[in-house]
This record gives sequence, structure tokens and C-alpha cells, in this order.
Amino acid sequence: MPQNAFHPGRPWLDLDGEPINAHGGGVLFHGGQYYWYGEARPRGPSNQDARIGVSCYRSEDLYHWKSLGIALKVVEDESHPLVSGCKIERPKVIYNAKTGKFVMWWHHDRKGWGHAGALAGVAVSDSPQGPFTFVEVLQPNGRMFRDCTVFMDVDGAAYLVFASDANANLVFCRLDDTFTKPTGIQCTQFHGRYMEAPCVFHHEGRYYFLGSDCTGWAPNEARSAVAPALFADWKELGNPCLGEGSETTFGAQSTFVLPVAGKPGRFIFMADRWVPEDLAASTYVWLPIEFRKVPGREAPRPFIRWADSWSL
Ligand code: GAL
Repeated sequence: MPQNAFHPGRPWLDLDGEPINAHGGGVLFHGGQYYWYGEARPRGPSNQDARIGVSCYRSEDLYHWKSLGIALKVVEDESHPLVSGCKIERPKVIYNAKTGKFVMWWHHDRKGWGHAGALAGVAVSDSPQGPFTFVEVLQPNGRMFRDCTVFMDVDGAAYLVFASDANANLVFCRLDDTFTKPTGIQCTQFHGRYMEAPCVFHHEGRYYFLGSDCTGWAPNEARSAVAPALFADWKELGNPCLGEGSETTFGAQSTFVLPVAGKPGRFIFMADRWVPEDLAASTYVWLPIEFRKVPGREAPRPFIRWADSWSL
């Protein structure tokens, strides 16, 4: 196996030789390094509740990842929202240059509630690897909060993007200057489209969305959309995946779109190939995003093609 290559769907080991345990995750580029955050799942048959917390890995080249341990830990205190047995899903971290803090958001649910509580969790840290200090769990502007991402716009403003209204709609909600609190500036998009696993990125003056349908851990056909502004009307562009396996996103579900540092226009589609009966055994499907002009359409469309292995 070539060293500097991605092998989608295959076991991916960290520099200690352990399988990378960072599911439903996202990547932050900071100080010349990439930080990968994700759900740390316990080994073996799991009951799908959080037992560890959020892991953090660091890399310079995106191929080799060093484990930095657990950035946000579950606790034993039954009265605390982070008690072992709660749900911590799809963590994403952004850096706030004004406060010098790293801010983590995730989909939270209270122990014993399944996904019924539909909360957002927020935590902050002075360093990218944590430890992150718990701030609170909440529903932004009283809205249900499930699958989520955080997007930093080109003007430095940050937004929560989350499945709301029992997953029917997707909400974009601007964060305050500290990135730790939602503001009342929000809009509802993709009405009744049950978009999950949201990813948002900016490319050549346009905003792009990649996501999934709503079928639990089972993979489904990916979705894509484009808009001239975050709060404009999004135009759906259909399934971005091409070829064999495209009807199930190659057996995976989106989690993040990673802009490659120093390479404008290069993005990595990050997805999880879930193993629901043993979530720690879930693998990662990272594939390059291509853009192509389609006759009759103004905006180039993003496409994702399978590759057994590939390099930047
Ligand atoms: C998926 C969601 C995952 C997880 C799962 C639970 O739809 O994307 O993050 O919540 O449902 O069934």
C-alpha cells in the first residue's frame, strides 16, 4: 500500500497502529496542522451511546494521524449532560481568532432519551487538542437540533447548520462573535426534504451543500445543492456520486467537506461507512470532489467518484 494515499473504506490506523476512532467527524486546519475531531466509539458491540467522548487527531499531510487523546470527555456525574450514556454525535470545531478559543459544537441527547431531546452541545478550549470545557446544551432559538455542522463564512462569521423540525428541514443559524451562542439570525431551508449529515463549503463565489437522506445508519443516495449566499434559496443539484455504489454514497454517509490548505478548489468529501452493530468498526470514505460545468446550468456541479486509493 502506498504510504501517501487514501484508501476509502479500508481500516485506517493512526501513528500508534490503532484504528482511527473519530466518527461523524470534521477537520479544522490551524497553525499549519490539521485536527480531526470525531465520535470516539467503544470497541465491540455498542449500544450507540457516548461512553468516551470526542477524540482528536493531528496531521500535517492528511494521510498520517497522531492521536492526541480525548478532547471532550464524558463524565460519571449523573446530573451532568455529558454523563456516560448520553449521545454525542457529529462534533465539529472552529477557531475564534477574536477570543483565541476553539469552539466545539455537536448533536447532543440526554442519557435515556434516544434522539428525542434534539439538543446542541457547546464546549470551548484554549488549545486545539483540548481539554474542552463544557458550556451548555441548548436548542438554538428553540429549534430541534440533530445532524449538524459548523461553517465559517469567508467574512469570518460562523453558522450552525442542522437538521431541525424532526429532521424535516435544515436550519442555518448565525453564531455570535464568540461562536458559543446562536443569534436570532437564522433561516430554514430544504423544506420537507429530510436532509441529514450536512456539509457546507464555499467555492468560487458560491456556497455548496452536500448531505444525505434520512435513513438512520443505513446508507442512502447523497444530495447536493448550490446557492449564491447562505441565506438565499438553495438549488438542489441531485446525487453528486457517480458510478457503481453511487445510489448509497458508496455505502457511506457524509460528515464533512475538507478544504485542502493551500490548494484552492481542492476539497475532500469525508463520509462514514457505518457499522451500526459495532460503531467503532465503522470505516471512513474520503474521496476528492470534482467540479464540472453542466450545459444549461450556471454553477459548476460537484461530483464524487469512487477510487480504491488516491492521493492529493
Ligand atoms: C443517522 C445520523 C447519525 C446517527 C444515526 C442514528 O441518520 O446521521 O449521526 O444519529 O442516524 O440512527
